[in-house]
Amino acid sequence: MTAKPMLVLGIETSCDETGVALYHTIEGLKGHKLYSQVHLHAEYGGVVPELASRDHVRKLLPLIQDLLDETNITINSINTIAYTRGPGLSGALLVGTTVANALGYALNKPVIGVHHLEAHLLSPLLSNPELEFPFVALLVSGGHTQLIQVDGIGSYIIQGDTRDDAAGEAFDKTAKIMGLPYPGGALLSKLAETGDAFKYPLPKPMLNRPDLDFSFSGLKTAVAQLVHKLDAQKVMASSTLKADISASFQESVTEVLTQKCCRALRLNESKSLVIAGGVGANSELRRKVNQQAKKQGFKVYYPPVEFCTDNGAMVALVGALKISEGITGPNPFDIKPRWSLSA
Ligand code: KG4
Ligand code: ZN
Repeated sequence: MTAKPMLVLGIETSCDETGVALYHTIEGLKGHKLYSQVHLHAEYGGVVPELASRDHVRKLLPLIQDLLDETNITINSINTIAYTRGPGLSGALLVGTTVANALGYALNKPVIGVHHLEAHLLSPLLSNPELEFPFVALLVSGGHTQLIQVDGIGSYIIQGDTRDDAAGEAFDKTAKIMGLPYPGGALLSKLAETGDAFKYPLPKPMLNRPDLDFSFSGLKTAVAQLVHKLDAQKVMASSTLKADISASFQESVTEVLTQKCCRALRLNESKSLVIAGGVGANSELRRKVNQQAKKQGFKVYYPPVEFCTDNGAMVALVGALKISEGITGPNPFDIKPRWSLSA
């Protein structure tokens, strides 16, 4: 990190979580706060962009104030402000961008825009400072399922991508099929803990293809057909049936993800794997990958579970890394709702 110590405020507002954090380049994470809007969107079965933006407006400044109070840090001690520039919902991104730039202007401090996926990708550095480049990363969230060769900060080659649904999206849609409330991914994986993962053999899409791509929408359809065959009403009423279906679905997804990670490591002759993004919190995925790591002799790095899903800490961290590398921010008020990591 840079010779001159820096304190970075990170702001995350790309979707339905308002996250803020203070990261010090020498002392590490000083504190963070997260406000989830999940309850606001649950009754609609998905994120409503306009509601998300309005709630970020309500919550962001009070959350920053709470963070400063809790950490006993004065606003003038902040050296740089990092915000999520994209990808994400335009209105939600604009809230973070506007607040970041207004604070930067008022405090006369630089502002830097951060790529949300890059923040996920580098989040294991929050708890594993020994992680070194190059490595292979599996970015597995609600919107993305990608295998990426990471050669350094800003050097990302996407080697595998999903052709339809992302893994998290498949978890959420499958949970919905079984009547679980939005977002059902974590609930489904909780249900799966008590289920028989081999009760209903489901397809393992793309596993036998030589590339690193994924496809999960067919698997979700297979679950819908299974629920129909078993009688949807019977499934809804039976916790055993729901647990077995959840475990069988989770078995297919985690097996495909694990095997493709191993393939990517072999192709890149790498011994270092990062797993990041919301689905990285899945304990069965972690169990399978850890087992392969032991067997095949590679190392796996995860962010702390609380930083697998969206948060401000990973944004502050990337801001700090970029500043340390001498990289400065884009033009103020610039957002990129659609933004490829490799661009
Ligand atoms: O990274 P993230 O917070 O948001 C995006 O940038 O997409 O990921 C959210 C996704 C959701 O689809 C959620 O259902 C999924 O991560 N997720 C999980 C688990 N916890 C969160 N999926 C499977 N198992 C979990 N334990
Ligand atoms: Zn995310």
